[in-house]
Amino acid sequence: MKGLILSGGKGTRLRPLTYTRAKQLVPVANKPVLFYGIEAIAEAGIRDIGIIVGDTKNEIMEAVGDGSRWGLTVTYIEQEAPLGLAHAVLTAESYIQDEPFVMYLGDNLILDGIRSLVNDFQNGHANSQILLAHVPNPQQFGVAELVEGRVHRLVEKPAAPKSDLALVGVYMFDKTIFDAAKRIKPSARNELEITDAIQELINMGFVVDPHIVKGWWKDTGKLDDMLEANRMVLDNLENRIEGYVDPNSQLHHKVVVEKGAQIIRSTIRGPSIIGAKTQVIDSYIGPFTSIQHNCLIRRSEIEHSIVLEKASIEDIDSRIEDSLIGRFVEVMKSPVKPRAYRFVLGDRSVVGII
Ligand code: TTP
Repeated sequence: MKGLILSGGKGTRLRPLTYTRAKQLVPVANKPVLFYGIEAIAEAGIRDIGIIVGDTKNEIMEAVGDGSRWGLTVTYIEQEAPLGLAHAVLTAESYIQDEPFVMYLGDNLILDGIRSLVNDFQNGHANSQILLAHVPNPQQFGVAELVEGRVHRLVEKPAAPKSDLALVGVYMFDKTIFDAAKRIKPSARNELEITDAIQELINMGFVVDPHIVKGWWKDTGKLDDMLEANRMVLDNLENRIEGYVDPNSQLHHKVVVEKGAQIIRSTIRGPSIIGAKTQVIDSYIGPFTSIQHNCLIRRSEIEHSIVLEKASIEDIDSRIEDSLIGRFVEVMKSPVKPRAYRFVLGDRSVVGII
C-alpha cells in the first residue's frame, strides 16, 4: 500500500500567511501540520509516500526532504494547477500504479492515527473506504448518506443535508478510483471534486465503506481551526524544559521550553510551547500558545495564539489573544510622537484594535 499526501492547493482561507508560505507548513505545537500526516502514514506501516506539490513545491521539499527521517521514501508529484482533489489523484496515477493507497489531505490532523483504518481496508473487500465524522454544521462539508451500512450518496456542501456525517480528509482507494475520476466533469468552482469521483465509484457498482471517526480531527485550513488544532495538540504534550528559566519566572501546568530559549522574569501558563532560542522577558504567555523559534516577547502578554519564527512582540499594554502572527512580524509600541498607530500591513492582514 502507498501513501498520497496532498500538499498543493491555493490556501485562500489562510491568507495572508499563504501569500508567502505553504499552509501545510504552518506549525501546530511548533511542528508543521504536514508532518503529523506523514507520521500517521508511517505509523500505519506504509513506506512509500507520494506528495502532491504545487506553487510551494520548493519549501515543501526543503522541509520534508527524502523522507528518511521517518524511514520513508518520498516521491514528489507536481500538479500543474490546483484543479481539485480528484485531479490530484489523477496526477498521481503513474506513481500509484495498481497499488491500493491512502490519500491524506496535508492540512488535516487526526489525533488517533490511521493504523487500524489502513488495516481494515487492507483486510477487507471494499474498493474505497472513507472516513466520516458527526459534525454540528454539515452544510460546510462533503456529506455522506448511508444505506444499510454502505455509502449510498455523497453531496458536497448540501443546503439541506440528509445526515450529519462529514467527510474527513483521509480516504483509501484501490485502482478503480482512476477510472471514476476520469469520468467526472469539473464542478461549478472548476475543480474535479473527490466527492464526485467517489459518487461515480458507487454509480459504477463498486463498494465504498464508511468508517466513522470517534476521535478528534481537524481541517486546519482556517484560522480558528488552526488555533483549535494547536490547543488540542498542546494539551497532549509532556513537560520538557531544555532552555533556561530564571529563578524569577514561573511555569504552570504543561510547558515545553526548547533548547536555547530563555525565560526571564516571566510567567508561562501551559499548555504552551516556547521554541528554540526564543526570548520571553518580563512577559506573560497564557495557555494554548505556541511560540516558534527565534522570537522575542518582551513586556507583553499573549494567550491562545500561534507566533511564527523570528517574530517580535514588545511593550504591548493589552493582552493579545486568538492570534496567528506570521514570520518576521514586529508588533511594538509606536516609538515616536505624535501618539498614533503605525502599521505596515500586507494584503488581507487583519488587525483588531481596542
Ligand atoms: P483545500 O483546503 O480543500 O483547498 P485549498 O488548499 O485550495 O484551500 P482554500 O480552500 O483555502 O483555497 O485542500 C485540501 C488539501 O489538498 C490541502 O492540503 C491542499 C491540497 N490540494 C492539492 O494538493 N491539490 C488541489 O488541487 C487542491 C484543491 C488541494
